[in-house]
Amino acid sequence: MSKRNKTSYTHWSSRWTFIMAATGSAVGLGNIWKFPYITGEYGGGAFVLVYLACIAIVGIPVMMAEVLLGRTGRTDPIHTMISLSRQNDAKAWWAIIGVSGVLAGLLILSFYSVVAGWALDYVVKAINGSFSNIDAGQAGQLFADFLSDPTQLIISHTVFIILTAIVVALGVTAGLGTAVRLLMPLLFILLLILLGYSLAEGDFNAGLNFMFSVDFSKLSGEAVLVALGHAFFTLSLGMGAIMVYGSYMPENASVAKTVFIVAILDTVIALVAGMAIFPLVFANGLEAAKGPGLMFVTLPIAFGHMPGGIIFGTLFFLLVSVAAWSSSISLLEPGVAWLEKLGVKRWLATALLAGLGWLGGLACIYSNNWLDDKEGRYAFEWMDHIASNIMLPLGGLLIAIFVGWIMRRSAARRALSDTANFWFNLWYASLRVFSPIGIILVFLHSLDVI
Ligand code: PHE
Repeated sequence: MSKRNKTSYTHWSSRWTFIMAATGSAVGLGNIWKFPYITGEYGGGAFVLVYLACIAIVGIPVMMAEVLLGRTGRTDPIHTMISLSRQNDAKAWWAIIGVSGVLAGLLILSFYSVVAGWALDYVVKAINGSFSNIDAGQAGQLFADFLSDPTQLIISHTVFIILTAIVVALGVTAGLGTAVRLLMPLLFILLLILLGYSLAEGDFNAGLNFMFSVDFSKLSGEAVLVALGHAFFTLSLGMGAIMVYGSYMPENASVAKTVFIVAILDTVIALVAGMAIFPLVFANGLEAAKGPGLMFVTLPIAFGHMPGGIIFGTLFFLLVSVAAWSSSISLLEPGVAWLEKLGVKRWLATALLAGLGWLGGLACIYSNNWLDDKEGRYAFEWMDHIASNIMLPLGGLLIAIFVGWIMRRSAARRALSDTANFWFNLWYASLRVFSPIGIILVFLHSLDVI
């Protein structure tokens, strides 16, 4: 089914299509690549706990608000915010939520597509048997050699951007929905296989201890900000992706239930990925704070030693690439939907924005050697920090304030009419008070003000 239809705005056929699309957006490199590596960098347990608190207190309420805005506005995030501001007698500058979302999407796409390119390349390495009997040193070398080859990096990055652009340009989600429905469970099964391997061969106790024993003295202000930023990043929040998907959601589907399902799936997948990776880190004498290469150095060791490792390794990196693909589509969709509404042809809008993301990716690749060498991670770290830790939480803050304080309560109540009073009131209080205060406290804390 096509989701672009200018005369009568098409809706997805069912709640499940929305759940699949939103899960496709949410589950991606954020869960499998980024969550483990930032958990490693920021010291484990306390960071994980703050991240889970951010999902519960800020992520879920804001996600419901974002879906609701999209479903009420029924157009791209910028026009949705303009029309909802007017309807609620507010200034049109609330459209800033949509504008910043389009920019954040491009910044994220820039490094996201480069890392997705790594995953694509690792499919080929897995098929070639490059992991067989590999040890930690060799796995590190394999990754370092790969990163020092810009041509290869550019090829993989370009292939990934083209794959993303094709789906966005066609504006077809039906195929994607089916792919997500079939492939995400398969990805989950492979993660469980890896978890089983870690349990048998890794230092499982050390891994669990690292992830779940909480020591707040290890937690810096920056770590708290990164945990909040990651709650937004992993749920695709604060930049219009979930809003634009919400705009295609049928009227009779329950916002609260669907959001819960997506948030829980997303969180479980991240935790399982972490529990599969850290026991391997400790058993192989690797560093938890290894940085962005963590998954690409640890998992080949597992695939290189388990029976059927070539098949499992190939499938795993292929599925990670697919998960990244269904996420990157939603990074482009808000901007493309906006340009389309302004009268630009969909394919042209896609080519323009994907082209910008491609250029941003080149900046990441050429700012060189982001592994091991902290100083060298300029463009990537900068883009990730500005977009994930600042723009997404600010977008979320504005969304919470808009729905909690500007939009009429009756409109919000109507949009969540299937939700029981108790839950509605809890959600509404979160949006008005807890989520905004939480976000503001984290910002102040990271600036060392409190
Ligand atoms: N949620 C995606 C992931 O975890 C990334 C993403 C962020 C996608 C923001 C869309 C918008 O991989």
